[in-house]
Amino acid sequence: MAQQMTVPAVRARKASDGADPLVMLTSYDAPGARMVDQAGVDLILVGDSVAMVVLGYDDTLQVTVADIAHHTAAVARTRPEALIVADMPWMSYHVSVEETVRNAAVLIRAGAQAVKLEGGRRRLPMIEALVAAEVPVMGHIGLTPQSMHTMGGFKVQGRDAQAALELVDDAKELAHAGCFAIVLEGVPGRVAARITRTVDVPTIGIGAGPDCDGQVLVFHDVLGLEHRVVPKFVRRYADLYTEGVVALRHFADDVRSGAFPTVDETYRMADAEAEALGLYGAA
Ligand code: KIV
Repeated sequence: MAQQMTVPAVRARKASDGADPLVMLTSYDAPGARMVDQAGVDLILVGDSVAMVVLGYDDTLQVTVADIAHHTAAVARTRPEALIVADMPWMSYHVSVEETVRNAAVLIRAGAQAVKLEGGRRRLPMIEALVAAEVPVMGHIGLTPQSMHTMGGFKVQGRDAQAALELVDDAKELAHAGCFAIVLEGVPGRVAARITRTVDVPTIGIGAGPDCDGQVLVFHDVLGLEHRVVPKFVRRYADLYTEGVVALRHFADDVRSGAFPTVDETYRMADAEAEALGLYGAA
């Protein structure tokens, strides 16, 4: 049996030390958590991407701490061996250090073992307060979807030398403040490689090329459950949306034709009891 993943074990997984790459997938409910845990991932991210892939919103800005706590609790009830990381939603760590720590506590009490928050140096006071409160923090820099309006959309970050150097500095500061890992999203592969070489905590890439210490993707993208937008960095390993529609159409056809349910799918009443009621016939 595999071992329960821990924050120190993740923190120690640098590819430059010969460690296997970290594997992180999102999940938001019990069946999804069972699937990704059985697949052997190292970390489960209860991402604010739940807003877009589950709750039908167009961006991640709509989810609340209560939403993430609700989904985190569903994942935690499955008692996965993977480490559960819960995303801190937009506005849950922007107003004050005190609100940040209280909101993180809600997610930890829901079953998360760590939280993730977006942004570089300007988040240092929040990160330091969380670390001081014994809440493990995963950083997230580059294309940070909660900054979509500031960035003018979902745009790759760090494409020019100055912006790339700022990302390297952000990563150094986050690691120094105590983040145990850093997600690098939507940055050129060369920039991600430089950051990964620079910091002594693992980097986990999404749209950041192959030279990170690990990779993360969204459950619904990997399984082809999300068809509307497929970013360049997504690799689909199944097309469950199409397969699901075929199966559901088959069910509808069977109901309409009378092929479902059959005797095998129907509970029986003993013949003597049925006769006592004056009921005759196969079922
Ligand atoms: O919410 C999410 O799914 C994420 C990943 C894209 C890293 O933050």
